[in-house]
Amino acid sequence: MDIKALVSQMTLEEKAGLCSGADFWHTKAVERLGVPASMVSDGPHGLRKQDDKVDHLGVNDSIRAVCFPAACATAASFDRAMVTRMGEAIGDACQHERLSVVLGPAVNIKRSPLCGRNFEYFSEDPYLAGEMAASFIHGVQSRNVGTSIKHFAANSQEHRRMSSSAEIDERTLREIYLPAFETAVKREQPWTVMCSYNRLNGVFASEHPWLLTELLRKEWGFEGYVMSDWGAVADRVAGLKAGLDLEMPSSGGYNDRKIVEAVQNGTLDEAVVDRAAERILNIVFRYTGHAKPDTPWDKEAQHALAADIAAECMVLLKNEGGILPLRKEDEIAFIGEFAEKPRFQGGGSSHINCFKTTSALEAAQGLHIRYARGYDAAKDMASDEMIAEAVEAARAAKVAVVFAGLPDVYESESYDRSHMRMPDCQNRLIEAVAAANPNTVVVLHNGSPVEMPWIDSVKGVLEAYLGGQAVGTATVRVLFGDMNPCGRLPESFPKKLSDNPSYLFYGGEGNVAEYREGIFVGYRYYDRKETELLFPFGFGLSYTDFCFFDLHLSAAEISDREALTATVKVKNTGSRPGKTVVQLYVGDKESSVFRPVRELKGFEKVELQPGEEKEVSFTLDKRAFAYWNTQLHDWHVETGEFAIEVGYSSRDIAETAVVKVNSTVRVPRHYDINSIFMDILDDPRGREIIAPLLKVMQEGFSQGQSEQSDAANEAITDAMNLAMLRYMPLRTLLSFAGEKADPAALEAILKQLNED
Ligand code: BGC
Repeated sequence: MDIKALVSQMTLEEKAGLCSGADFWHTKAVERLGVPASMVSDGPHGLRKQDDKVDHLGVNDSIRAVCFPAACATAASFDRAMVTRMGEAIGDACQHERLSVVLGPAVNIKRSPLCGRNFEYFSEDPYLAGEMAASFIHGVQSRNVGTSIKHFAANSQEHRRMSSSAEIDERTLREIYLPAFETAVKREQPWTVMCSYNRLNGVFASEHPWLLTELLRKEWGFEGYVMSDWGAVADRVAGLKAGLDLEMPSSGGYNDRKIVEAVQNGTLDEAVVDRAAERILNIVFRYTGHAKPDTPWDKEAQHALAADIAAECMVLLKNEGGILPLRKEDEIAFIGEFAEKPRFQGGGSSHINCFKTTSALEAAQGLHIRYARGYDAAKDMASDEMIAEAVEAARAAKVAVVFAGLPDVYESESYDRSHMRMPDCQNRLIEAVAAANPNTVVVLHNGSPVEMPWIDSVKGVLEAYLGGQAVGTATVRVLFGDMNPCGRLPESFPKKLSDNPSYLFYGGEGNVAEYREGIFVGYRYYDRKETELLFPFGFGLSYTDFCFFDLHLSAAEISDREALTATVKVKNTGSRPGKTVVQLYVGDKESSVFRPVRELKGFEKVELQPGEEKEVSFTLDKRAFAYWNTQLHDWHVETGEFAIEVGYSSRDIAETAVVKVNSTVRVPRHYDINSIFMDILDDPRGREIIAPLLKVMQEGFSQGQSEQSDAANEAITDAMNLAMLRYMPLRTLLSFAGEKADPAALEAILKQLNED
């Protein structure tokens, strides 16, 4: 199909019209030229396809579909292949339902536990988020259906999401808030990108030329179309110029007319409209060219897949005395409404109308379970009778399992949480049950961290996150040992909200949200600050034991143009088959810029039989060692030693090796009379050039010194002399070096220093 030729046959009005939706979910058709409409739909963890009444907040009904685990859960799997399988299933459903694009994945960084939409996001770590996003996109797009990676960019709070400006410095953007998008775009070419509602450093994402064009297209090579989040368009013409191709949903023709007027009055080049129309049509025809509405959508099979996936995502956080797995012959109490009606998805645009759900209570049929409701999640209360009934059930049981977490209203799209606590009634229930039966286990359903005031009173905690419609099956499998838990936390669990690095400024003042903690997000902060945590990033237990050993590097020294291979052995030293996640972190041992202690740069999920051993290898390239240099406006590796750490979590490192990386890039330096000696001495070339000057300066110093009393001389050693001198600007030569100071020599040396 010659898209350019097609666009050339369109009127200006038709082209402008193509740049906004026909309605809530469709692009426009141009019937006279055979351009079909195409439908997009939420996303991300299943389909929210609305046939009838439409909205973007999940209020009205959508077709019956399959709700897979939300991103908060799938990230905990640390399993790329599995996330790809989930994407394939969703891609099949899209084909069946004639959807050209599914609106996801959502990859914003979990900066604070408070973000209402954290459940839809993968992680506090950009590398993990990027790997998961790319794997998901790979799966969906293998079915010739598009994805829309969102929300581009820096939409890490719901508070004032449509007006607030995320104020983020260049390095933090590059290292924390952009890489997940970058990885996905460069590796998988999502068919579309959805810009976010918020402003970024003062400019709406929907009209941000640097974000939508310079970075996304010119630097990363994005080829698809950019669509707006629903209602994110402020100035349509500015948006079009900046690179926003499709406005969603329809603006009733209002903004289309603005585009036409702008072309007619000469403020907008028609070529810009052509470009957007071409990009949109490329994708429309890419879909129609491969549409396969006869693709079967086997919902029962996908429900089974959703259960398998949910089981891979569960994170066992505590298992004192091996309380889990439970024995099937024992009397067990299931307490808490979530055992009967699990919370498995979040509120808002991702809310799926499930064709069926399986609760833990249903999944445990045939076992010896006694159920007590414990609390009313919707009313957020537990009556004395409910607690009494729960306590009685707990007393009568061998083990009491409390199903707890956050009710729907606590976390949702469109608003943030105001604290990190679980409902008081649930905390009370857990304490009461644990007092009645010391063998108490808590299963949690939540999209991001919660405080656990009862942690020392219970023996077990299983983090199920929002595990999708089959979460009950998965939970029972893990509780009773049919599945060995293998999830790892994709985020740190602080003890209390005020430990979180964004605590002091989260949400911002009015419409200005300054991301003042900079790159120190999640474990990057906690590890550097040595904060005591409830559970660290990457943490998760198993019913078996694993050992990581024999870490080897392919070289002791490399240049930043070479790759390094790290290999490590993993052994299942316990008595059950299981999976573990080998995590590789890199830390710059010495740096001239502030850097985290360690950053995740590789992970691999490995399955092992008891006694089995495998070797895992990781390839690390320049990016694994680099930070974003704001002078070069590029990734840069400082020459020096780096720690390569392999661990069970960011706080439990099993093996460390050291590699020296030599930079091949010299950061240009410019010196003037105000440059201080220290900065010049730190540069090997500078050290050589400045040596004569330093000598004169030191002599000047010691001469002054010899005129002093003996006591003063003893007090000031040569080392102190040099230490003081290091902070002095070159110009002080004239003040302190006495007669030997030669302005001409200083000028000559400066000239030499600045010669490349
Ligand atoms: C959300 C998007 C969603 C869109 C369409 C917006 O409110 O932010 O994530 O895809 O609605 O429902």
